[in-house]
Amino acid sequence: MCLLTVFLNNFSTFFNNSLIVISKMISIYNMKLIIKQKRLVNLIQMTKYSDKKAPGIPQNPLENVITAHLQSENGVVYEKKPFKIKLEAGNNYFWCLCGRSKSQPLCDGTHKDIFLKVKQRPIRFQVTESKEYWLCNCKQTNHRPFCDATHKSKVVQDATPIIRS
Ligand code: FES
Repeated sequence: MCLLTVFLNNFSTFFNNSLIVISKMISIYNMKLIIKQKRLVNLIQMTKYSDKKAPGIPQNPLENVITAHLQSENGVVYEKKPFKIKLEAGNNYFWCLCGRSKSQPLCDGTHKDIFLKVKQRPIRFQVTESKEYWLCNCKQTNHRPFCDATHKSKVVQDATPIIRS
């Protein structure tokens, strides 16, 4: 009888401790979910594309030929600064707009992953002169695919980028 009481007491303590551990694990999991959601909100609060043009920024000669250029939604912030890249005149390039490519600033087809539910399509572009260009890597430029300093805006600077700068 005494042994049974000791066993029941120990079991009860063990059970209570297990419940405490499980409830702590659940609250840690919930905290992680909240942090993830906050990050997602940060990523979603991006700027919309505007066709206001600033002088001195290169232009995509295909801008009026392709429909991808007209997409109103920008992608997520990949990085808070542009990327310098050497481009050849007349070549076709595909600039990643969704911000998910692993070959930034160019598209690697990640937007086709059905699980990511990406709405944006890449922007096909060319350059008229072979030289180095600053391509937008924050994905919020109004001069796709070229950097127009939108990355300096508060909305981009406050966002959580895919890549940590
Ligand atoms: S990197 Fe996007 S505007 Fe400069």
